[in-house]
Amino acid sequence: MTCPIGTDVSKAATILREGGLVAFATETVYGLGGNALDPTAVARIFEAKQRPEFDPLIVHFAERSWLHRLTMHIPSSARMLMDAFWPGPLTFVLPKAEIVPDLVTSGLPTVAVRMPAHPQAQELMRLADVPVAAPSANLFGRLSPTCAQHVAEQLSDRIDYILDGGPSTVGVESSVLQWNKDAAVLLRPGGLSVEDIEAVIGPVMIPSEADHPVAQSSPSPGMLPQHYAPQTPLFLQDAGSPLPEGSRLGLVCLQTPADTASSFACVEVLSPTGDLVEAATRFFAALRRLDACGLDAIVAHPLPETGLGRALNDRLRRATYQL
Ligand code: TXA
Ligand code: MG
Repeated sequence: MTCPIGTDVSKAATILREGGLVAFATETVYGLGGNALDPTAVARIFEAKQRPEFDPLIVHFAERSWLHRLTMHIPSSARMLMDAFWPGPLTFVLPKAEIVPDLVTSGLPTVAVRMPAHPQAQELMRLADVPVAAPSANLFGRLSPTCAQHVAEQLSDRIDYILDGGPSTVGVESSVLQWNKDAAVLLRPGGLSVEDIEAVIGPVMIPSEADHPVAQSSPSPGMLPQHYAPQTPLFLQDAGSPLPEGSRLGLVCLQTPADTASSFACVEVLSPTGDLVEAATRFFAALRRLDACGLDAIVAHPLPETGLGRALNDRLRRATYQL
């Protein structure tokens, strides 16, 4: 049975309050939401997404008062960032309060919290009057959805309603920060650039790839090496590197490539002007289109490692076929 897609926010709020699952738009990507305080609803999220239970969820809310009910201690630099960027694409991992079910945090003593900026998401959460646990609304390990149709393709027979809020305007998941004593650590580069974060609180720690232990022992288990992946093998390569085997190759790159385009059956240019913000809005949809082209392989050219380029390169590295 496929679930309805619509714009009925009060219907969606009722479903959430009654323990059901609603996919909803945020400015980053679509989320697969359930009442964060209802362990049965949270269990249904893991089941629908086929997500391993060691990978904790972000709890979303529209009212700041929830922050104080869900978390214990808020470092002063976290507070400064909330004042500067909430509602927005920034998630804080903070010591959790008793009321947060262990399933939400996969047994960790911390909980990830975020106030999304999308007005429809805010209305939904205000009407539901519960905090909403929501991973990205895709099957585990696959590409994140940036429109209602993407959600329907993977989850419509597993959830109760898809609330259509149009295409996501940021296009890449939120940046995730945690605190180690007073030092902010970037667990996931995302929709708010490191430059913007550092302009408010000074330098943040950026763990290198090598510091990220795999799977269960990871500080942020969603940072698994293989993640955010299309079905087609993807190779991250500089322009001009030897191409992978295969007669039908696709290319995803920032700007129109000068000479290599003729080697490819399909080319996705993320931003003709080289604008990384525009590139982020097109990123996941471009990979989905390439994935649907029946290609032997997708080649991705790395983006500049600045602004949102850092988050997009991170997703490309995790989508690569051979590490
Ligand atoms: O933009 C976003 O963040 C989207 C929208 C829906 O808000 N959500 C999203 O959720 O991307 P998800 O579940 O796909 O990614 C959440 C990330 C994962 O990397 C997870 O491991 C990490 O946050 N995370 C959640 N709780 C954590 C915790 N207590 N400690 C460390 N990492 C945590
Ligand atoms: Mg995800």
